[in-house]
Amino acid sequence: MRTPLVMGNWKLNGDKASVEALVKGLIKPANDATGVEVAVCAPTVFLGMVEQLAAGSKLAYGSQDADVNTQGAFTGENSPVMLKEFGCKYSLVGHSERREYHNETDEVVASKFKAIQENGLLPVLCIGESLEQNEAGETQAVVERQLKAVIDLCGIEAFNNAVIAYEPIWAIGTGKSATAEQAQAVHAGIRQWLAAQNANVAEKVQILYGGSVKAATAKELFGQSDIDGGLVGGASLKVDEFSGIIAAAK
Ligand code: G3P
Repeated sequence: MRTPLVMGNWKLNGDKASVEALVKGLIKPANDATGVEVAVCAPTVFLGMVEQLAAGSKLAYGSQDADVNTQGAFTGENSPVMLKEFGCKYSLVGHSERREYHNETDEVVASKFKAIQENGLLPVLCIGESLEQNEAGETQAVVERQLKAVIDLCGIEAFNNAVIAYEPIWAIGTGKSATAEQAQAVHAGIRQWLAAQNANVAEKVQILYGGSVKAATAKELFGQSDIDGGLVGGASLKVDEFSGIIAAAK
C-alpha cells in the first residue's frame, strides 16, 4: 500500500509572520495524521525558518525548484546540496509555472530531477497538459513525453525514490478541479504506462493530483485507487483548509 502524501506548494506567497503562523498551525494536523505524510514546499528564502519551526514535528518540507548545479558561478540559483542542508526532504521539479515562465524544457526538468535525486532529496516531478492539449485528446501523450524525458536520463528505477504530481494546467489556480473520475483515469493511465516498463516501480510510486484541490473535493479525489494524495496550491496557505485536506487523506 502506498502512503498518502498531502503536499502544499506555497508558490511565491507569504511573509515572516504568515509563515510562522502557518507552520505552527500545521504541526498538530501533521503530527495527528496517522498514516498520512504532510509536507510544505516553501519559497527558498523561508526554508531556514521552516526548518526551525518544524523541528521535532512530523511536518516535512521541501523546495519548489533546485538548480542542476551544486555550487559555483550560477548567480541566483539554489543548490540541491544547500536545500538538503536546510532539512528539505523534497523538491518540486518541472512545475508548469517553471516550464512556462522559465522555459524549462523536458530535458532541463530531467537534469534537475537527476541533480535533486543524486543529492539526497526526493524529486516531485510535476507533469500535466494544457487546456488545448486536453481538448485535443493529447493528455496521455503529453504526460508520457514528460515522464519519458526523465526515464531516458535516469532510468525507470529512479521512480523508486521520487513522487509524481499530475497537475492539469487548466485546473491550476482556476477553481476548476478535474473531477475525481477524470483525474483517476489519467493517474491509471500513468501507472499502466509505467507498469509496462517496471511493474514494481509502478505499484510503489505515489502519484499526487494537483489543481484546485479543496477540503470539500479532497475526499473524493483521494478515494480513487490511483490517487495517492495531493499537491495543493492556494488552499495550502490556510491552516483550516489545508487541515481539512489532510483529514481527507486519512
Ligand atoms: O502545485 C500546486 C498547484 O499548481 C495547484 O495550485 O492553487 O490550483 O491548488 P492550486
